[in-house]
Amino acid sequence: MVTGGAGYIGAHVVQALRRDGHDVAVIDDLSTGSRDRLTNDTPLFPCSVLDTELVTDSLRAHGSELVVHVAAKKAVEQSIAEPLMYYRENVIGMHSVLTAMVQAGTRKMLFSSSAAVYGTSTGDLVDEQADTAPASPYGWTKLMCEQMIRDTAVAAGLDWMALRYFNVAGAADPGLADRGENNLIPKVFRAICSGVPPQIFGDSYPTRDGTCIRDYIHVADVADAHAAAVRGMSGGAPSAIYNIGTGSGTSVLEVMHTARRITGRDFDWDVRPPRAGDSPAVVADAAKIRAGLGWESRYDLDDIIGSAWQSWSSRIEIPLAR
Ligand code: UD1
Repeated sequence: MVTGGAGYIGAHVVQALRRDGHDVAVIDDLSTGSRDRLTNDTPLFPCSVLDTELVTDSLRAHGSELVVHVAAKKAVEQSIAEPLMYYRENVIGMHSVLTAMVQAGTRKMLFSSSAAVYGTSTGDLVDEQADTAPASPYGWTKLMCEQMIRDTAVAAGLDWMALRYFNVAGAADPGLADRGENNLIPKVFRAICSGVPPQIFGDSYPTRDGTCIRDYIHVADVADAHAAAVRGMSGGAPSAIYNIGTGSGTSVLEVMHTARRITGRDFDWDVRPPRAGDSPAVVADAAKIRAGLGWESRYDLDDIIGSAWQSWSSRIEIPLAR
């Protein structure tokens, strides 16, 4: 059962798990998700994860052995403005899903966590042992959920994994694309298509070109990591937390240059003051999952920006530059 399976990341996870031969069903409240991201033969239980009884009934009806819990709110800035909404949807949502799993006898949980649990890092590669110090309510909700799983696993005998995503972008096909505009790459596309320069938040960071460095990971790689985790859990791999990143950092300026080359649009950018709470550099040490589950990323920044641009262009019906 994939919660949030009609959303951007969840639908990619559903596709990867079906490719591996799993009988996948979806719980989604369709607040940001959409039925059209799912094939017609994918069972959809249209309910909120907060409705414990309906989630329990759905798990029982589908005979679910494993829950991939993706459903959550994920905009960092919104979480600062509306923390109680984030604690309700993400933390109480997790409480509800775990309660339903215990009631339905579902014993395996794969959780979508985030690099946001690390907070502002030192600029080195971040491994799973790094201190956690979330810089936003969003990051705190993910860390609290990890703890709730650990404690429930001990009491109820659950097997679990938590995948800490770094900066997810791109699309496996246009129909599955991110339709939100919270993150850098869609914001750049929006800006260049409106003829407005995209913004760079700060160019005086202690990085190679002064702009922030992030680890951009293709959503198809993220989905494959879930398939690897499910294979691992089915084969008795121990419960664990894994980073999901490429291990290689890209600066905001490098994103701009790549976007210029791939879109074929000649645009400039505006340098703005730094955004509150941004780290100079957050890059995954991805060694643990390579050793533990045999997963590593396959796609690079060109693939990420290329696939995102293809989806964006088909959505707003502008001709592709290449
Ligand atoms: C944050 C979270 C990440 C989460 C993601 C989801 C942290 C540490 N990271 O990533 O875990 O998955 O949100 O939303 O909380 N930028 C610009 N101009 C813009 C927009 C962004 O220069 O118009 C820069 C930012 O300063 C940042 C980079 O681009 O350096 C990426 O920003 P964004 O896409 O918002 O994601 P993060 O904040 O890195």
